[in-house]
Amino acid sequence: MKSVTVQKPGGLDNLAIVEKEAPKPKAGEILVQWHATSLNFHDYLVAVGGIPVSNGRIPMSDGAGEIIGVGEGVYNWKVGDKVMSLFFQNWMDGRPTLHKMVLVNGETIDGFITEQSCVPATSVTKMPKGYTYAEAATLPCAAATAWRGLMVEGNLQAGDSVLVQGTGGMSIAALQFAKAAGARVFATTSSPEKAERLKAMGAEAVVNYKEDPKWGKTILGLSGGGVDHVLDVGGGSTMKQSIEAAKIDGHISSIGILGNGRKGEITFPKLFFKHIRLIGIAVGSKAMQENMVKAININGIKPIIDKSFAFDQLADAFRYQESGQHFGKIVLEW
Ligand SMILES: NC(=O)c1ccc[n+]([C@@H]2O[C@H](COP(=O)([O-])OP(=O)(O)OC[C@H]3O[C@@H](n4cnc5c(N)ncnc54)[C@H](OP(=O)(O)O)[C@@H]3O)[C@@H](O)[C@H]2O)c1
Repeated sequence: MKSVTVQKPGGLDNLAIVEKEAPKPKAGEILVQWHATSLNFHDYLVAVGGIPVSNGRIPMSDGAGEIIGVGEGVYNWKVGDKVMSLFFQNWMDGRPTLHKMVLVNGETIDGFITEQSCVPATSVTKMPKGYTYAEAATLPCAAATAWRGLMVEGNLQAGDSVLVQGTGGMSIAALQFAKAAGARVFATTSSPEKAERLKAMGAEAVVNYKEDPKWGKTILGLSGGGVDHVLDVGGGSTMKQSIEAAKIDGHISSIGILGNGRKGEITFPKLFFKHIRLIGIAVGSKAMQENMVKAININGIKPIIDKSFAFDQLADAFRYQESGQHFGKIVLEW
């Protein structure tokens, strides 16, 4: 069976397909035939060497596939069940701890661009009903983060307003969840074409963050005094404007560092005089993912897949992600 691996020193030209012996499930494990994965910025950093991993690591945190074997003592899954991975193998429920976050698929342990692997029976959830493997593979990182930011940390209520930034997989999933929950959605993008697509998906107003550097103030006005929830994807490159865009007593989930935003400045008096609740989040727990799947089953939400690549095209898929042309998720299927 084949797997794609990251070879030292990293870089898209050093992704290598290797042949390995087919694994057998031990007690408490399931053997999964993986069929799809999706691209996240985290996977890109692993692939290019921005997040150091051991030589030969199988990248990709998201996987969807079919159970083809169960180890001793596994009673909650059977052969033929369709499952998807978790971002953190150990985080079942409750608030985060170091122990819950130490096993990261595709980084500290092997990920899912592999034909088969054995994983703990506890470390997968059901796929949503009627989903293809590719659709399910879009969920464990990007959509679960959007779900947590809005529903768990934001406690989003019908009638609330939400700002999503850019048109990557996390932000598009957030737009869909927010609309399904009866929220007003505002969005930013750098592309007039993508702005039209955002409006077609229900965004009330879209601001071009490249043409309007004070987009936070613009959203403040358009929303009539600020939004209840901001999912910030740029950190140092966006947080100042995210604080501008937020309502008094609003919530901001800090999620990413796009646009070279590892560090940056914010205006602290704005943060505290607006009584903003700012929280950093890294994906979420199995319980959160299961709740997200329940909501998807009820609402019939389907992810937006921009482009699909084959198993041996991971480097091409990352180059496409680098180009920033995508709207929603990029997947690989085999
Ligand atoms: N903390 C977590 O657990 C977690 C989980 C998932 C994702 N993330 C992070 O969240 C961010 C988005 O993830 P993703 O998977 O949706 O990524 P993605 O698919 O790669 O999103 C890229 C899109 O973001 C937009 N963008 C780029 N620079 C921007 C900027 N300065 N301001 C606003 N938008 C900008 C662009 O949209 P336009 O083309 O429309 O301009 C670009 O197409 C990434 O930083 C990722 O690492 C974090």
